[in-house]
Amino acid sequence: MPTEFEPFPHLDGIRKPPPATIVIFGASGDLTRRKLVPALHSLACADLLPDRFLIIGAARSKLSDDDFRSRMKEGVASFGRLGLEECGAWDDFASHLHYLPIQYDDPASYRDLAAFIEKLEAQHEVPPNRLFYLSTPPTLYVPIVERLGETGLARCVGDFTRIVVEKPFGRDLESAHELNERLHEVFGEDQIYRIDHYLGKETVQNIMVFRFGNAIFEPIWNRRYIDHVQISVLEDVDVGRRGGYYDQAGVLRDMFQNHLMQLLTLVTMEPPTAWDATLLRDEKVKVLRAVRPPQGAAVRTNTVRAQYRSAHGDGPTYRKEPGVDPKSETPTYAALELYIDNWRWQGVPFYLRSGKALARKVTEVVIQFKEVPHLLFDEHTPDAVAPNQLSFCLQPDEGFHLRFQTKVPGAGMRTRSVQMTYMFASTFGEKALPEAYERLLLDALLGDASLFSRADGIEFSWRIIDAIQQAWERGEGPPLTFYEPGTWGPPAADVMLAASGREWSLSCVD
Ligand code: BG6
Repeated sequence: MPTEFEPFPHLDGIRKPPPATIVIFGASGDLTRRKLVPALHSLACADLLPDRFLIIGAARSKLSDDDFRSRMKEGVASFGRLGLEECGAWDDFASHLHYLPIQYDDPASYRDLAAFIEKLEAQHEVPPNRLFYLSTPPTLYVPIVERLGETGLARCVGDFTRIVVEKPFGRDLESAHELNERLHEVFGEDQIYRIDHYLGKETVQNIMVFRFGNAIFEPIWNRRYIDHVQISVLEDVDVGRRGGYYDQAGVLRDMFQNHLMQLLTLVTMEPPTAWDATLLRDEKVKVLRAVRPPQGAAVRTNTVRAQYRSAHGDGPTYRKEPGVDPKSETPTYAALELYIDNWRWQGVPFYLRSGKALARKVTEVVIQFKEVPHLLFDEHTPDAVAPNQLSFCLQPDEGFHLRFQTKVPGAGMRTRSVQMTYMFASTFGEKALPEAYERLLLDALLGDASLFSRADGIEFSWRIIDAIQQAWERGEGPPLTFYEPGTWGPPAADVMLAASGREWSLSCVD
């Protein structure tokens, strides 16, 4: 039965974090207003924030505490999973919000910040447990980290000092490695929380529960029973106002290095022996190390790169977006065929695709099982031999489907494909799924890094992306093709699968 509105079902036994101060750098930006503070507000509604806490916004804009609070109030009202009325505790929450204007590269600003934090901690009896959050443009990460180091703010003076680093984490292996080194000069690896918001999504975490919380799937989760796997992260939005950033990044860096690689590792990693950040991330790194990016002639046949372009000018065209080079070759869509060189997955193709300005927003992972070895029933409807398929629908309609064969009632032995469907909303209620940032902020406060990336994981993931990106830049890739906005992408992506007699599946849309 659908429940009535129950924003945080089943919270018994969930720990509350210890008293702490959260300092957000880049607090006047969009992420803070749209995601971070609404997530903290939802956690406060669920009584999941510490008994004593402070949230300090720091950025260049000259705002007062009151200005900051009213901006955040508007953010919660517009973007919060739980609105102001549903929660009804805005005034209390707002009293924990403070703001300090700073210059990111100026040591004096950090001395002011240290004094500001200490004064508030003393006033509100909050011990010096601190979580710094880098929500600024990535070029500011190193200067901020260095200044935190110089002023002693990175030192652990209470129970913890941690730093959350937003994406993008580097733009290739070299820059990611360099960023890791610079962070490690100031913070220990166990203090660093590299965020990938996909890992905060409930349905993404559920891939692990599905695989390792049920006995019936793991025995068939391998090359003997699985024909291939598809991971589709399709977006209907275009690049909008992000052209300046996007044209330097492209879809491989923006979506594949982080989100799609995370999904790939969750589907393919070996079971860790416990739910533990080190063990879990060890398994993820092992599988990332085994991913073989296309090389040589395969770069041409096993990768697709494309850009959206409206043929009749009535839709968006990437090259006309603000901030985009009118001759840009940056792909807004890519499809890849990857292989994993280990015992479990040898020879199984993994098809990954992602793009902008497509027909709908859909994120799904499809496990396509092999056909039955011998078919007994020949009086079938056209789709009767469709092999079993398990689809994880990650967004927007969260749930999963299992396709299997059944007998058509009546004479003969006619078969037909049917779906067994489970949707989260029908069990847990429409608003039950927390926002990714709620989970991740809570975990960072609790000191659980399981859902954050480790230095080596990020670098192995960049190794895969770099190999493809560099092959494309050397001209070894397929030609850039174009697709009409509002479609499901370029025909070249269909051709890539058709070469092995396969086709893309869209199981999570009607
Ligand atoms: C971000 C990318 O990391 O993820 C964006 O930079 C993309 O380009 C977004 O739109 C997608 O996230 P979600 O949660 O909407 O699937």
